[in-house]
Amino acid sequence: MKFFIDTANLEQIKEAQDLGILDGVTTNPSLMAKEGITGKDAIMNHYKTICEIVSDGDISAEVLGTTYDEMIKEGDELAAIHPNIVVKIPMIKDGIKALKYFSNKGIKTNCTLIFSAGQALLAAKAGANYVSPFLGRLDDISVDGLNLVEEIRVIFDNYMYDTEILAASIRSPMHIINCAKIGADVVTSPLDSILNLLNHPLTDKGLAQFVADAKKMG
Ligand code: E4P
Repeated sequence: MKFFIDTANLEQIKEAQDLGILDGVTTNPSLMAKEGITGKDAIMNHYKTICEIVSDGDISAEVLGTTYDEMIKEGDELAAIHPNIVVKIPMIKDGIKALKYFSNKGIKTNCTLIFSAGQALLAAKAGANYVSPFLGRLDDISVDGLNLVEEIRVIFDNYMYDTEILAASIRSPMHIINCAKIGADVVTSPLDSILNLLNHPLTDKGLAQFVADAKKMG
């Protein structure tokens, strides 16, 4: 399973990259705004910097427009920043047309805001490289987000779609573990959920013992 980090924060991206387990980055307009990135030049430069930090991984950059014309214009500009840019397109009717446009051009895409298996199926049909089901936001409204990932896995396997399931809106390490059990191709997660996978009290206790015994050995 691939690990992406879901942030536009450069320090967090560097920290995850330094761990040696990072396969990519996802951003969205809210995450970019949170970092205070405004204006076209700043946005383009920020994506370029992320691509330079994570030299070997897909970097999702979301279009801001919602019409077909706006999305293909923006997507072409984003894709020109770096070969690792994946154009992130919202799950709307014009978005499906845009996915097909980029698929025909060989530009990678990530279809975002997926909340149903039918949406994922349409995005795969249109040639999306990734679909992003938002687990946490479904859980927030008492709908089982993991169940959606399972449904999409069955459908994609039935028809051997190459589209990868990118489990998004991750809220906890248990989300990551459950996504791995179900067979999500990728999880995109905040840094703290990734780091929390490291923790186990028996590891801490065992290491403390080993360190104490190591001192006895001189
Ligand atoms: C995915 O690509 C989105 O950026 C993200 O996972 C949304 O997560 P949130 O529901 O925590 O905002």
